[in-house]
Amino acid sequence: MRAPSLLIVVVAILGTAAAGAKVFEAACASCHGPAGTPPPQMRDTLGVRDLNGAEFVGRRTRERVVDQIRRGAPNGRMPAFTGALTEEQIQAVADHVMSFGAKR
Ligand code: HEC
Repeated sequence: MRAPSLLIVVVAILGTAAAGAKVFEAACASCHGPAGTPPPQMRDTLGVRDLNGAEFVGRRTRERVVDQIRRGAPNGRMPAFTGALTEEQIQAVADHVMSFGAKR
């Protein structure tokens, strides 16, 4: 029964992506914008970086992204999400962040 199990895998992957997008929308979009590019006001007042920008995309690693979500920004302008998000949500939203900028 190959087809049904493949279907389950596909649904599981899509499920994770959708969960990550939802978490991003709820917990991150206020500062980072709905699709990872911050509104100019957030960029100017908080120094939020463009998560689709070449500078970030060029140096990001999944580990670094997870770390940033867990601990927040060293300068305190991004809150730590440990405790506010479950470990599953942190992993899902990290996958979502890693998908930004891919089509440029
Ligand atoms: C209160 C505003 C705010 C919220 C909410 C927020 N961020 Fe940030 N984020 C920032 C700021 C400001 C920076 C740049 C901080 C710095 O200078 O290190 C940043 C930087 C980042 C970076 C880049 C780190 C790097 O290496 O340059 C990532 C990735 C990131 N945020 C992901 C997230 C995710 C995922 C969420 C939601 C779970 C989130 N942020 C929620 C303000 C926010």
